[in-house]
Amino acid sequence: MAKPKSFTCSFCGASFSKWSGRCESCGDWNTIVEEAPLSAGPASKSLGARRGSTVPLTDLSTEETPPPRTLSGVAELDRVLGGGLVPASAILVGGDPGIGKSTLLLQAAARFARNGLKTIYVSGEEASAQVRMRAQRLGLAESPVKLAAETNLRDILTTLEAEKPELVIIDSIQTMWADNVDSAPGSVSQVRAAAHELTTFAKRRNVSVILVGHVTKEGQIAGPRVVEHMVDTVLYFEGERGHQFRILRAVKNRFGPADEIGVFEMTGRGLAEVTNPSALFLSERGQPTPGSAVFAGIEGTRPVLVELQALVAPTPHSQPRRTVVGWDGGRLAMILAVLEARCGIPFAGLDVYLNVAGGMKISEPAADLAVAAALLSAREDAALPADTVVFGEISLSGALRPAPQTENRLKEAQKLGFTAAIAPAGGKSGTVAGLAVTRATDLTGFVGEVFGAG
Ligand code: TYD
Ligand code: MG
Repeated sequence: MAKPKSFTCSFCGASFSKWSGRCESCGDWNTIVEEAPLSAGPASKSLGARRGSTVPLTDLSTEETPPPRTLSGVAELDRVLGGGLVPASAILVGGDPGIGKSTLLLQAAARFARNGLKTIYVSGEEASAQVRMRAQRLGLAESPVKLAAETNLRDILTTLEAEKPELVIIDSIQTMWADNVDSAPGSVSQVRAAAHELTTFAKRRNVSVILVGHVTKEGQIAGPRVVEHMVDTVLYFEGERGHQFRILRAVKNRFGPADEIGVFEMTGRGLAEVTNPSALFLSERGQPTPGSAVFAGIEGTRPVLVELQALVAPTPHSQPRRTVVGWDGGRLAMILAVLEARCGIPFAGLDVYLNVAGGMKISEPAADLAVAAALLSAREDAALPADTVVFGEISLSGALRPAPQTENRLKEAQKLGFTAAIAPAGGKSGTVAGLAVTRATDLTGFVGEVFGAG
């Protein structure tokens, strides 16, 4: 009998019984590949046929001491990890090729090793000499990190069993090869099997494991999303190629908040921490220009100010363009619709471009009002006052909803030299000395306040 075929999306890991050009689960094109079926043996006997052993049960109230944590000393990294590295945790660091994952992790390895963790860095992509050269350039040559250049998972695990490290970095999971799995390195089954071996090793031997995963769009190589559910913590390292800023973002964390970010700058000597991201993101701002608005946002536990830039121009096309970088396109469409329906300000026949400056990505609904301000400012060709920050969520009715952590936002604005803020009325009204806060209840009121009659 022919073996049943199995097809898997290399981007999101969903499986299907037949091939198709587009994954029904994540919507990506050309990512479905044929894979060996997941279960090798027939599952003819039910599990109940043979008795297992009993599992100890505990109460919910059982005292649990918080896990001890090791700090790297890099505050931006420790915060994203939820306050340092937890023993026996499995961490995935995903990101585009060339964004700086190896640099980040070599630097982190050196820091952790210096703070007393026995650390091994396994590179499946570069030769040991290459990693050593990089370490020298980063000024880390003296740190007590052990290196290996290897892709054979069986050999790596045997070495780790013998060496008993406390932290292992695997760069990258896509280069690992488990010889008990019958498919090429980088395929969904290999990546899954390797990640499974390494995460169970982490738990069994009380070792923290950091896996590097490249985000890829080539169907033959599995992306990091395939292993997201197997690890305790998922961090993504993002940034724009042309910019120096890099953001390490926690998207899942069993040991800390999941919306925390760490900000770094890529320099000639590796990644440097950015302790005041607001100042960095606003550093390119010049004279007040139409279409620019400063949003007072919150990323994790920290306020971050960013500049939103909009451009509105008559379109030569029958279908006007809506282009967004760093924000959600659907949300932009909603705000344009609310401006049209509730305030009578049409954008039909106009191309709209929206950009979050500095390569930052924002997902907070509180950015709505700042987006509306940038759009209106661009459309009216009138600059907003330079020393004003804006935040607040817009509802479909055109009403404004208060944003969480108002006071933190206002304090950060004041700290960076802003003198005014426009925020929704209601909610907890924080006041900060030296900052004049204008409160608007709805979008129409806001338009009148900022742009005269609108
Ligand atoms: P790398 O860490 O190799 O990226 P990844 O592992 O995510 O593929 O970083 C590659 C880029 O970083 C490369 O284009 C050069 C740049 N870089 C610097 O600008 N400064 C440095 O000190 C280092 C080590 C790299
Ligand atoms: Mg690398």
